Amino acid sequence: MKTYLITGGAGFIGSNFIKYIFRNYQNVKIVCLDKLTYAGNLENLKEELCKYKSDLIFIKGDICNKDLVEYTFNNYKINYVVNFAAESHVDRSIIDPEIFLKTNILGTQNLINIAKAKWEIGEQKYIKGVKFLQISTDEVYGSLGNKGYFTEKNNLKPNSPYSASKASADMLVYSYYITYNFPALITRSSNNYGPYQFPEKLIPLLINNIINGKKLPIYGQGTNIRDWLYVEDNCRAIDMVIQHGKTGEVYNIGGHNEKQNIEITKILIDTIKKLVSENNKYRNVLNTNISNINYKLISFVKDRLGHDKRYAIDSSKISKEVGWKPTLNFRNGIIKTTKWYLDNQGWLKSVTSGEYKNYYQNMYSDR
Ligand code: NAD
Ligand code: TYD
Repeated sequence: MKTYLITGGAGFIGSNFIKYIFRNYQNVKIVCLDKLTYAGNLENLKEELCKYKSDLIFIKGDICNKDLVEYTFNNYKINYVVNFAAESHVDRSIIDPEIFLKTNILGTQNLINIAKAKWEIGEQKYIKGVKFLQISTDEVYGSLGNKGYFTEKNNLKPNSPYSASKASADMLVYSYYITYNFPALITRSSNNYGPYQFPEKLIPLLINNIINGKKLPIYGQGTNIRDWLYVEDNCRAIDMVIQHGKTGEVYNIGGHNEKQNIEITKILIDTIKKLVSENNKYRNVLNTNISNINYKLISFVKDRLGHDKRYAIDSSKISKEVGWKPTLNFRNGIIKTTKWYLDNQGWLKSVTSGEYKNYYQNMYSDR
């Protein structure tokens, strides 16, 4: 029996990872520690909280809280920590960086400090098999020009307060490995997309706006490039790094799917138009006339400050050393994702209306 402490497990990637683990392993316990910020939605774990009652423990709280993290380690025999908890939206970090520094840097430091104290059995020695996986991002490498790829050897050159806070956390985690032999690993993935993503990020925001016939705000000329990765491919990579990765190592995870933002926008318009034309079930979801779904919805708006031009990942290290490769091509990933949002209008409406915030209260009314 292995016990995972998954922080940020009510968010987009964390909740997908919890689902992935329960789908693929039988003998596991998961303790999910999440502050339920605006981005945390316990509804994402609704099925799992019912189905795996005794094997999924939810703790509402902050990774910066020393007593709570100590309590968690004292009460559960944690084998693996997977630290997803973060403030994750670049635009918010530009408006108000402080919480990014608190959660992403100090929160991570609190977690590694307590994990070290609880796992240490002698100087630079730890309980057998324990691991701390820091979930990082390709954004710590900065921005690329038209050519080249990020490898794990690239220098860290973060450009936004978000990526600077993530880079700081990576450096702290690595310093614990060097100084204390702390059993840490780091993954740096490219942009994820898929079910349960908060609709402030590009892909779910565009899907939601298209369905509702709203303008699609594209920063600058829409020529910035991201390397898109289907979230389940990332979850499999994270799992494989926990099982087969080497402590002290960094693994890049990329989708080999470079696309300009404007291309993504047009693909989504075309995909939704096709799905609703072919299927009445989807047409009924539309909050606009089908004829309004066209490129005229695109609205070029003021560019993001310090907007990174291009991200592209070289994932040959994880492929060679861990045996991982992405499986889903972008076309199929986008169809799957679009269908999920069309099929889960209740989820989308609960998030956009703010109703999702009541879910924890209703579920744990005794606390
Ligand atoms: P998200 O914003 O959807 O979820 C973050 C979760 O962390 C939420 O559930 C939130 O409530 C929780 N949280 C925030 N502050 C907390 C705190 N102080 N204590 C406890 N919980 C807290 O983010 P995501 O997109 O799922 O990203 C997860 C991780 O993956 C982040 O570390 C992010 O930097 C990294 N990442 C994301 C992407 C992406 O494309 N989404 C790409 C690369 C890396
Ligand atoms: P985002 O989903 O915020 O991810 P990140 O900034 O972490 O890469 O944005 C993806 C790209 O889409 C990025 O180049 C900014 C752009 N973008 C828009 O053009 N309009 C929007 O409304 C948003 C949210 C993003």
